[in-house]
Amino acid sequence: MSSLFLSTLAGHKSDRPPFWFMRQAGRYLPEYRALRKKANGFLNLCLNSSLASQVTLQPMTRFEPDAAILFSDILIVPYGLGMAVDFIEGRGPVLDALRDSLDIKRLNPEHCKARIEATYETVRLCRSQLSRDKALIGFAGSPWTVATYMIEGGASKNYSKVKSWAYRDDQSFNTLIKIVTKATIDHLIAQIDHGADAVKLFDSWAGVLSPSQFEKWVIKPTREIVDSINLKHPTVKIIGFPKGAGHQYIDYVNKTGVHAVAIDTSVNLSWAAKVLDKKVVIQGNMDPISLLVGGESMINQASSIITNMKERPHVFNLGHGVLPETPPENVEILAKYLRNLGGG
Ligand code: CP3
Repeated sequence: MSSLFLSTLAGHKSDRPPFWFMRQAGRYLPEYRALRKKANGFLNLCLNSSLASQVTLQPMTRFEPDAAILFSDILIVPYGLGMAVDFIEGRGPVLDALRDSLDIKRLNPEHCKARIEATYETVRLCRSQLSRDKALIGFAGSPWTVATYMIEGGASKNYSKVKSWAYRDDQSFNTLIKIVTKATIDHLIAQIDHGADAVKLFDSWAGVLSPSQFEKWVIKPTREIVDSINLKHPTVKIIGFPKGAGHQYIDYVNKTGVHAVAIDTSVNLSWAAKVLDKKVVIQGNMDPISLLVGGESMINQASSIITNMKERPHVFNLGHGVLPETPPENVEILAKYLRNLGGG
């Protein structure tokens, strides 16, 4: 296998861990901000294959990580399902929130793939421009996290709307989860069909659920997505990211069937290396604030992560996305350090 990232995901250990950074393309890069100005809004940037592929490749030129991640957003699926999705400067995403089961009926799953079809052309363009030693990661949000945005209508402090809907009316919430699960499976398979080498499921709000709800809304739909992808693409690896899951990372790894798991910053990596099933590859988990601060403390943190993971296949990454205030020079320094491990 020619890609270090893919051979690590397949369980092989090498002399340096492959690396990439969550949100490696984005507002902290001046070249991103320049292209963002050209597009009429963030969603248009995501759905313009030429611009979105350029944005995907920007960090590849600057930092030479081992993988590119498709430039898009997890909220492209609710958009595909027919919801109005907007990204407002300083406020984040805003959606016309679902209020009741009638609103769920108004979703339009049949047209989802067609509405977001430009994404697949972006994948094709990126794969055709990347060399074989660089992997291309496709992604989607997990049904639970996507449903939180669909019901809360945007960022939320306590997730009371989505959680009370799930507690109050298990049946209609399950209908919504099923629609999003099916759309997510189709979306990920289409990305793989167009050239994505691996896929990642972002479950950013997995950590807000009680254990029984975690089983129902995080583990079960994730298992279904993993099984469906395995059936169609048995060699493609799936990375799960149940951010904030704490000790439930163990259950997540044991029950969902993901091939790799992204560990968030709050988790002790040596604990994870000890308790998580050895068949699963670990990715993570440097604090994005450490990257923002840079200097000696950044390199010390990176080095200690690598030491903690020396017994297992490991993909070096952050525990969450690069922050917009991060100096790109810090990322350059860290990338150089990581590339030169194991003799360069
Ligand atoms: O990682 C990458 O480089 C690939 C692109 C990517 C984006 N969003 C681009 C983006 C990925 C993988 C995502 C995932 C995503 N989107 C998640 C899961 C990961 C996480 O951060 O927990 C979530 C929860 C979202 C939803 C979302 N999109 C929010 C909450 C926001 C606003 C907050 C913010 O960071 O601006 C977005 C907008 C967004 N998605 C931007 C980017 C580059 C900024 C948009 C801009 O240019 O204004």
